[in-house]
Amino acid sequence: MTVQPTRVLVTGGSGRLGRVLTPLLTASGYAVRLASRGTNPPVDLVSGAGVVDAVRDIDVVVHLATTNGRRDVAMMRTLVAALDAGGDRLGPNVHLVYLSIVGCDEVPLPYYRHKTEAEQVALNSGLPVTILRSTQFHSLVALIFASQRRLPALVVPDIPMQPIDLADVASRVVELVGGPAAGRVADIGGPQTAPLTEFAQQWQRAQGRRARVLPVRLPGRTFAAYRAGRHTVPGTAYGRISFRDSLGAV
Ligand SMILES: NC(=O)c1ccc[n+]([C@@H]2O[C@H](COP(=O)([O-])OP(=O)(O)OC[C@H]3O[C@@H](n4cnc5c(N)ncnc54)[C@H](OP(=O)(O)O)[C@@H]3O)[C@@H](O)[C@H]2O)c1
Repeated sequence: MTVQPTRVLVTGGSGRLGRVLTPLLTASGYAVRLASRGTNPPVDLVSGAGVVDAVRDIDVVVHLATTNGRRDVAMMRTLVAALDAGGDRLGPNVHLVYLSIVGCDEVPLPYYRHKTEAEQVALNSGLPVTILRSTQFHSLVALIFASQRRLPALVVPDIPMQPIDLADVASRVVELVGGPAAGRVADIGGPQTAPLTEFAQQWQRAQGRRARVLPVRLPGRTFAAYRAGRHTVPGTAYGRISFRDSLGAV
């Protein structure tokens, strides 16, 4: 008898994390299907177009698609409704794995509030769910610095940061895909927690730039929460790849 590989749907598979996760899943023996507006057929988790077909015959859904805004809640509702309605067209115990953000319920940023609400929709769905919160990806931090490439100085909020490499996040997601639904699992962060200015200096050195790095103290509750490190993970770090080591690759 031939054993069918576990079928994994990756929403947002064309995004930053999805592009790293997908080959890892395939190399681990999973049959991977991607779903986003750019796939053929297109799948739009906001309008719902193509979602029911996308989840057909799937065993695990890794939900990475994001609008970077409030429509992430609608996306989660659409996905959960399609899985609820799926019945015998789905794997016997379809498992939903959701990637969220460390401190999303403590840093009062609108996007984080939507991530927290999307987590709640998943947890209240009654489906087997696993929720993994990660710190900021190296690629996002590098993008913040690169967006100021043409400016004479690099202006950086005076907050700590604990960025993590996409490869470290992806390998944790592969582990979770292979395990049972576990609800909210331990948060993960990168190997170094340091002032964002320190990562800015590392980025400058890697770029051969000598512009001044200017720390700025930003007002408000959001930056107070960031300054207090609510978006970082205390204790032993999960990630192994440092921001400095990742700089050749981002
Ligand atoms: N970036 C970070 O530092 C960070 C940290 C912690 C957690 N996370 C979480 O990790 C996940 C992945 O983040 P990422 O940075 O890899 O995302 P990303 O690069 O911004 O990619 C977003 C993905 O969502 C898809 N998408 C957008 N709108 C869609 C829609 N209406 N229907 C279906 N697909 C849609 C996009 O594909 P199309 O354009 O083809 O639709 C794309 O594949 C997100 O949930 C994010 O919140 C990110």
